[in-house]
Amino acid sequence: MVNVAIVGLGFGAEFIPIYQHHPDANIHAICRRDETELKRAGDAFGIEKLYTSYDDLLADDAVDFVHINSPIPDHAWMSIKALEAGKHVMCTVPMATTIEECEQICDLVARTGLRYMMAETVVYSREFLYLKELHTKGELGKIQYMQASHPQDMDGWPEYWERMIPMHYATHVVSPILGLVDGRAEYVSCFGSGMIRNELAAKSGNPFAVESCHLKIKDTDIAAHLWRFLFDTARQYRESFDVYGSKKSFEWSLVEGEEHVLHTAKKPEPDIPSRVSVPDYAHLLPKEIRQFTQTIEDPDHLSFVQGGGHGGSHPHLVNEFVSAVRDDREPWPNAVTSANWTCVGICAHQSTMNGGQIVPLPEFTLR
Ligand SMILES: NC(=O)c1ccc[n+]([C@@H]2O[C@H](COP(=O)([O-])OP(=O)(O)OC[C@H]3O[C@@H](n4cnc5c(N)ncnc54)[C@H](O)[C@@H]3O)[C@@H](O)[C@H]2O)c1
Repeated sequence: MVNVAIVGLGFGAEFIPIYQHHPDANIHAICRRDETELKRAGDAFGIEKLYTSYDDLLADDAVDFVHINSPIPDHAWMSIKALEAGKHVMCTVPMATTIEECEQICDLVARTGLRYMMAETVVYSREFLYLKELHTKGELGKIQYMQASHPQDMDGWPEYWERMIPMHYATHVVSPILGLVDGRAEYVSCFGSGMIRNELAAKSGNPFAVESCHLKIKDTDIAAHLWRFLFDTARQYRESFDVYGSKKSFEWSLVEGEEHVLHTAKKPEPDIPSRVSVPDYAHLLPKEIRQFTQTIEDPDHLSFVQGGGHGGSHPHLVNEFVSAVRDDREPWPNAVTSANWTCVGICAHQSTMNGGQIVPLPEFTLR
């Protein structure tokens, strides 16, 4: 059994029942700062080891790995501290907000042999798993181009989002593109467009409403486009990616809840597009946690809806990291891959602030 401790119980709480059902995992402890809320979660899920202090949690020898779900500015220092304390780390996205922190995490992982995985939901979503399957079977033909978007109006979210830069939370658009072809980003060029309210611009240091980035995938002829906004632009939330192949192409639906579109080449023009119902990939999981790819509402036990979110990815993330630690193998994405995905956004913002200048990805993310 692998002993996990979850840190941060907003989004993080959604993973508790999945670990509790996983045949090879045990929730050893949970950690958050608010003692009353911590106790409430402990009672609801029957967990006895409760920590309000992260340091106390890291001093607990029984913890094999921490699953970090704290706010973005805390990801890097918490991951570094955990690795230094000898714990494996799974951390929600992004890995960090600076290149230096990404490098420090990669160095620590290389030095200690501990495992690190960025818990990127998109690459375990049913859409991604479907496209990966089509690609592996050769049904898409040669991949010619990809694009991805993550528009999300963050007004009303916790205050730290006002200090965020759109491309510093870009892994949901970077990861499906690079993940599909198992590629690394080599360089980027990103343009800023429009402008946000003065007070938000002053807080974040980013004046632009939209950041629109092109990236080149190393050792391939493929370029991709991705774009993001956080404020002051009208659009429904969407985490989309489109893949264009020589035989088939996939386009994400424009509106939440509609079916996606698959285009097949060389058919009569009206027959080229068809709506697709993307299958579920629960069969890849241990049977005890398959239910969590779908939405479960359990008013007797929980105060929230479990599973289902983010394309059914949550149980796949849990299974990937638990089995990586159990089997002593690299998780996917590992530290270097997570760093490459995260640094695309960091480099893209550097490019934005320099008028779209080409910025190469740091060497340590290409290894
Ligand atoms: N699709 C995805 O990958 C996805 C979706 C939702 C949220 N997230 C990420 O999850 C993270 C948390 O999001 P949220 O909406 O739950 O945030 P939140 O602010 O609601 O919750 C943060 C939690 O972290 C805890 N925390 C903060 N600092 C701590 C410390 N020093 N020690 C112990 N606990 C601490 C807080 O007590 C709280 O429980 C964010 O980084 C967010 O980006 C990712």
